[in-house]
Amino acid sequence: MTVTIAREGAIAVVTVDNPPVNALSQALRQALVEAVAELNADEAVKAVVLICAGRTFIAGADVSEFGKPPRPPHLPDVVACIEDAKRPWVAAIHGSALGGGLEVALGCAYRVAVASASLGLPEVKLGIIPGAGGTVRLPRLIGPAAAVDMVTSGSPVGAKKAEMLGLIDAVIDGDLRTGAIAFANDVAEKPLPEPISRRAVPAVEAGFWESAETEVTAKAKREVAPLKALSSIRNASETDFADAMAFERETFLELRGSSQAAALRHVFFAERAAPRPPELSGVTPRNVRSAAVVGGGTMGAGIAVALRDAGLPVVLVERDKAAVERGLANIRAIFDGSVKRGRITQEAAVERMAGVTGSEDYGLLSDTDLVIEAVFEDIAVKRTVFTKLSEVCRPDAVLATNTSYLDPNVISGGASHPERFLGLHFFSPANVMKLLEIVPTATTAPDVLATGFALARLLGKIPVRAGICDGFIGNRILKVTRAQAERLLLCGATPSAVDAAMRAFGLPMGPFEAQDLGGLDIAAFQRKAARERGEAPFAPVADRLCAMERHGQKSGGGWYDYHPGDRTPKASDIVAAIIAEESAVMPQRNWAQGELADCIVLPMVNEAAGILEEGVALRASDIDLVKIHGYGFPRCRGGPIQYAKHRGLKTVVALLERLSVEGLADAPCKLLRRAAESGGFTTVAGGTVIGNGS
Ligand code: 3HC
Ligand code: NAI
Repeated sequence: MTVTIAREGAIAVVTVDNPPVNALSQALRQALVEAVAELNADEAVKAVVLICAGRTFIAGADVSEFGKPPRPPHLPDVVACIEDAKRPWVAAIHGSALGGGLEVALGCAYRVAVASASLGLPEVKLGIIPGAGGTVRLPRLIGPAAAVDMVTSGSPVGAKKAEMLGLIDAVIDGDLRTGAIAFANDVAEKPLPEPISRRAVPAVEAGFWESAETEVTAKAKREVAPLKALSSIRNASETDFADAMAFERETFLELRGSSQAAALRHVFFAERAAPRPPELSGVTPRNVRSAAVVGGGTMGAGIAVALRDAGLPVVLVERDKAAVERGLANIRAIFDGSVKRGRITQEAAVERMAGVTGSEDYGLLSDTDLVIEAVFEDIAVKRTVFTKLSEVCRPDAVLATNTSYLDPNVISGGASHPERFLGLHFFSPANVMKLLEIVPTATTAPDVLATGFALARLLGKIPVRAGICDGFIGNRILKVTRAQAERLLLCGATPSAVDAAMRAFGLPMGPFEAQDLGGLDIAAFQRKAARERGEAPFAPVADRLCAMERHGQKSGGGWYDYHPGDRTPKASDIVAAIIAEESAVMPQRNWAQGELADCIVLPMVNEAAGILEEGVALRASDIDLVKIHGYGFPRCRGGPIQYAKHRGLKTVVALLERLSVEGLADAPCKLLRRAAESGGFTTVAGGTVIGNGS
């Protein structure tokens, strides 16, 4: 039973119990309509409390029903039914009242919540707009300005703010059920408040809608839902309730079937699948109550901040006293930046910094639960660090490397208790970027792997399990992106044209701008190592730039020139001359933006399929998450594989074949061809990741 009714004197308590998050499935919608009818017919009932079992109030429509035709009763009718009830309904909120859940609450005569509750309309994050009166009732209740903020951002507000906005009528201290029943008894004798649907929308100042549109357009990037949500709120402010509801529903249904909504739904479910690799079910992670970072450079400092932000005490170990001071200064600079941006208070920054102990003495790590190494990308240096850690750390301490490209099997070779070792690959800036690649070695114990996933949860990161190969999942695809971008330069494109094409595709930055920002030297080290292994990485222009020490913004020039103190990229004559020399024998052509993007994105898809084929990733959707959360692939395109499905896998294979005949890309791999024939990708059974051991 999803809905039960109990009596507390004259108050009926309707309890929704539809785990895990009380989503509004068809059965629940039906049960709510039936509860309204039953209680309308019961003269002994004076008021009704609507409350939920489990961890949350109703968290929204059932997203898994979105790909299917809607089935009655439709949610707007359920909400109308509650609003038209003979007795006042009081929504009693804990956890999250989101989307359809908040819309149900807006149908109630009153809303109360515990202080820890949050309320929001996150639909735009799923590529849709609220579909059951959210854009129509909310501006009537809290005014258009606050409604625009909540709906177009999709961000929830806490109970205190909700009370301030007039979104809820009371914050309940103590037990919610008891408090809500007391509230219901109080209001039972009062006349029913005017239903929100019959209230007028407060007027706005002249120019409000125009400036809201400018702001929302800037924030939405290429996502269509936020602007559609704004139009719906504006329409709701300018027409009557019934017309506004019809407009909202039509927009909701139109967006529900859009490719952006499909992509964003895909990401929603991908993010919930990735933290749970099937083979770890039932495995208990080790306790992590203290942590250490070895190496306080760019990554080590960011990782230390992420650990402190999550409340762990951190020891930072560096090579010598001066390096310890530099490392601590790096960490302090990150906290200072957070204070400047208003993310944390000065007091919090001081408290977090006080929880970092800097030292060159490995002896301090004798009782640390987790140590993350982030020293130079040099196998000898890293192996020395792990030999020392083997000597000083507890045998059950978890030891991790943040290497970008080196083989964790080799890094940990010879260290004692190799079962406690794994790769934890953070992305820069490590305290901000959401992605964490978790890389088990051949000997990593299941509970150590589980500890990696538990750590990701603690740090608020999206964990993706990756197998061992050069660059794991993300950097392996990045190598292809860079090589493709250079190929284009040799065939008539310029760095700025390629960058513009990838921005137009939706990336925050093109491949050349990104290299100038991060530094060309990291990839140069990787290519050097690859050449030593007998491989032949393709980077004729980048190699020449590195030979001239043009490493990007930090050296005053890379793919572009930079004036001192100015990060604006300027086309470089030096780079143009190198490109002209390197491309002398290549046929030159004029490129349309879409062709440039295809030439980069489709080979990324091919590499992703290769990664899946080798079992380096467990699921296609994991690869999509890596590109979205580590490299800025547009979320509303769902990641490279979801994008390929949207383009049509057969089309992608045909385009790749053409590019390969022209010498512009590798031929499509076997798995991609098979997926195109069978209509989809399969995942690796049993979660076995096979590394290629490079
Ligand atoms: N529909 C279907 N399943 C949902 C769901 C939803 N709206 N929300 C969560 N779930 C599922 C998850 O897929 C997951 O399933 P699994 O255990 O099988 O993987 C399970 O519920 C638990 O979810 P989380 O791991 O996210 O649990 P948390 O406790 O971390 O978070 C939450 C709970 C804050 C409610 C979070 O799940 C969330 O933000 N959910 C999405 C809420 C949302 O977007 N609602 C709007 C939907 S659109 C809508 O309502 C349209 C309306 O206007 C008509
Ligand atoms: P960095 O050069 O900024 O910092 C390395 C730090 O390690 C320096 O502060 C150095 O003093 C210290 N160090 C060197 N040897 C040491 C030793 N024996 N004991 C203690 N400290 C020692 O390098 P960065 O960029 O922070 O990279 C660190 C690691 O993270 C590398 O393996 C790199 O591949 C990886 N990585 C880098 C990313 C990036 O964007 N920079 C992204 C993801 C991973």
